[in-house]
Amino acid sequence: MDRNLALEFVRVTEAAALACAKWVGKGDRHAADQAACDAMRRTMGQLDIQGRIVIGEGERDEAPMLYIGEEIGTGKGPKVSIAVDPLEGTNLCANGLPNAISVLAAAKDGDGWLMHAPDCYMDKLVVGQAAAGAIDITKSPTENLKAIARCTGKKVDELMVGILDRPRHEDLIAEVRRAGARIHLITDGDITLALAAINEETGIDALMGIGGAPEGVITAAALRCYGGDMQAKLVFRNANERERASKMIEGDLDRVFSTNDMASGNVMFAATGITTGDFLRGVRFVANGAHTESVVMRSASGTVRHIYTRHRFEGEPTY
Ligand code: FBP
Repeated sequence: MDRNLALEFVRVTEAAALACAKWVGKGDRHAADQAACDAMRRTMGQLDIQGRIVIGEGERDEAPMLYIGEEIGTGKGPKVSIAVDPLEGTNLCANGLPNAISVLAAAKDGDGWLMHAPDCYMDKLVVGQAAAGAIDITKSPTENLKAIARCTGKKVDELMVGILDRPRHEDLIAEVRRAGARIHLITDGDITLALAAINEETGIDALMGIGGAPEGVITAAALRCYGGDMQAKLVFRNANERERASKMIEGDLDRVFSTNDMASGNVMFAATGITTGDFLRGVRFVANGAHTESVVMRSASGTVRHIYTRHRFEGEPTY
């Protein structure tokens, strides 16, 4: 994936983060999402790429912009498949809670590939580099915790597991507690939680549990760049979801998906914090501007850049 393009993509997530930061805590998740989508689409439209959205705001008939299949960019330059989540954590943003980010992953056609994830759930197990190769999502959480402890040199009761706070995770939470590990429960935003799990400085050792499948593919792209390990299984709530998935994914839908099964070849990942969270600081408005923190990484080099940007606004921001 092109070096300069990766930096261009950060401008896109910065623009989306700045736009929806004005909606933090205002209780309007739709307005926040709309602001992020508008800004992301506008800035991405200026890039010299023949872009195609492979993971976006929904199917063409349900999303007015950044829908799956939408062509984006100036039409000059490389063909690029793009997975976007302009506002990951719409409720987090609306309620002013930690961990809302703007995020995208991309792969130049012929050079890299992102799975076209159906809009269903995905069971995810994510760990950092130390435990790579030691996890098995088909085994119990207890067995995986023991493996992670062994690899990280920690005791199970020192491990911290990130889990989305959902009724469907009642049994998972009970088992992790029985095993003796600690839990970091969050209300939304499992991409951020995964980023925290692969960075050992955050103190979070693993992400476990069910979240969105599109978020899972974007997470896999980050893992390809950063290192760490991820295993996942698709979770269907009904026959309709399974049917839709079978049109998008070849082979056994019930198999275990590895990181490489979801993001292969050369991929890149960019994210900007909207509200301060476990991995990135949020947007901070200052006189005539704002500060943002972003991360951008490419699998080709494995370079991870944290970018602190001071944006200067003349009147209203134009990004
Ligand atoms: P949105 O930004 O679309 O609100 O998604 C937030 C999120 O928490 C994701 O991080 C997670 O993967 C998914 O929703 C979980 O879905 P659900 O809220 O249905 O449990």
